[in-house]
Amino acid sequence: MSILRIDSSARLESANSRIIGDYLVQQLGQPVIERDLVKNPLPPMSPQDLVGVHGSHEDDRASLRQHLAISKELIDELKQADTLVLCVAMYNFSVPAYLKQWIDYICRAGVSFRYTKNGPEGLTGVKRAFIVTASGGTPIGGDWDFASRYLDHVCRFLGIDDVVHFDASGSKGSPDVVIAAARQQVDTWLAQQE
Ligand SMILES: Cc1cc2nc3c(=O)[nH]c(=O)nc-3n(C[C@H](O)[C@H](O)[C@H](O)COP(=O)(O)O)c2cc1C
Repeated sequence: MSILRIDSSARLESANSRIIGDYLVQQLGQPVIERDLVKNPLPPMSPQDLVGVHGSHEDDRASLRQHLAISKELIDELKQADTLVLCVAMYNFSVPAYLKQWIDYICRAGVSFRYTKNGPEGLTGVKRAFIVTASGGTPIGGDWDFASRYLDHVCRFLGIDDVVHFDASGSKGSPDVVIAAARQQVDTWLAQQE
């Protein structure tokens, strides 16, 4: 049983998504692999390499080989976890670019998902995802939220059927209030598991 935690807030200090993520993984009490996409950004892909990674193209180009190796490392890391924790800051109604970049590295036909006659099938084997979405004024789960809804879809696409959301929307008030409300959601979820 292990957790892969992904952080994506540009704020390294006082980020609601990071603070709530800390609380969540502490409460879950399992070994955690941490990947911070802000402290350790993934290398950007050229347009050709993006297409090459997506299609798992064999190519002699050194840059493509390098990006395919990173993609493999990230997918292996994900497949070794049974729980994914995504700590997300809403930027312009969607996810941070660093997180989108990670998604572009890990969504690969035949590796992390495959197409079947019944539609796409996820291959990651991850059992559950927790998505902590922090925003300013945009309500999480509302019509303007293209972050948590998008990530919910990506998780299910990759075969993670159990997706749990924690709402760290700033519309709830000051950071202290937002964090306390999200911690309460975590506590409520944990109590329901007993
Ligand atoms: C570049 C940028 C874009 C943002 N866009 C939105 C937005 O579309 N909707 C919103 O409610 N808040 C927006 N915010 C506010 C953040 O979502 C908010 O500060 C949130 O707490 C960030 O997560 P963090 O506390 O984990 O850093 C934006 C902040 C930044 C820096």
